[in-house]
Amino acid sequence: MTLSQADFEYLARFVLEKSSISLGNDKMYLLESRLAPLCRQYGIDNLSEIVASIRQNPKSKLSNSVVDAVTTNETYFFRDVKPFDELGKEILPRIVARKGPNSSLNVWSAACSSGQEIYSVAMILEDSFPHLKNWSVKLYASDISSAMIERTKAGVFNQFEVSRGLPASLLIKHFNRKGESFYVKEYLKSRLQVFPLNLASPWPPLPSFDIIFLRNVLIYFDPSTKQGILQRVERVLDKEGALFLGGSESTLGLKTCLVRESGRYCPWYRTLNS
Ligand SMILES: C[S@@+](CC[C@H](N)C(=O)[O-])C[C@H]1O[C@@H](n2cnc3c(N)ncnc32)[C@H](O)[C@@H]1O
Repeated sequence: MTLSQADFEYLARFVLEKSSISLGNDKMYLLESRLAPLCRQYGIDNLSEIVASIRQNPKSKLSNSVVDAVTTNETYFFRDVKPFDELGKEILPRIVARKGPNSSLNVWSAACSSGQEIYSVAMILEDSFPHLKNWSVKLYASDISSAMIERTKAGVFNQFEVSRGLPASLLIKHFNRKGESFYVKEYLKSRLQVFPLNLASPWPPLPSFDIIFLRNVLIYFDPSTKQGILQRVERVLDKEGALFLGGSESTLGLKTCLVRESGRYCPWYRTLNS
């Protein structure tokens, strides 16, 4: 299935407006291959009909599905390992010692995809910090994609997904198997709040976070969008808190008040005033 140049340009503008993801001309094939399954799903004959339908109703379910299809949702449990070592072995012990008993802890996976990132954090807290049971521990996860929001809320993973990054011992301990699917146990979900958020648009009021994972999403944005997002992050990151970016992401060349810390296992960022 192919797109005309005019339809491609319309869709690229639509996706940019909805998600700030910019699709250059070299992404024509990507767009075609991502949208083809939507034709089958919605019983539509070709891609130009998708474009016509979006033009007519840019707020329809199909329009959401187009944005969902374009976002890249690649993720896996304990992705890159080191940020989770830094979190569990360095940052959390420091925060917990500083705050003292019966305090609160807020962790946010911004751009959570299907939830593996926030469930990895939930497992670390469950296994290495059982004494936080009396704390108010809240895990937040957000994404622009409604499909990913639903997946994160569900906490159900297939064989392939649980074979990526998740040690067998944690699979056995924290998941229930039903047929070919693996369900996260309820206690891991009990602290979780999942909500839709376009990082590139103004944010609703959010709590202050001790830990923010903002990984493998800034890469999709131009510098001014990245800068806007990081400035909003500064406002919600606790002054003693830690921000993790993806392995290929940094604040280099952007005006922010975030300072890079080398970390024992991997770099992370804090606000300048902490
Ligand atoms: C590659 S995944 C990263 C998932 C996870 N953070 C990780 O590192 O494994 C990127 C996620 O960013 C989301 N995303 C893309 N544009 C976004 C936007 N403007 N606002 C919020 N999330 C967005 C996508 O839907 C996708 O789930």
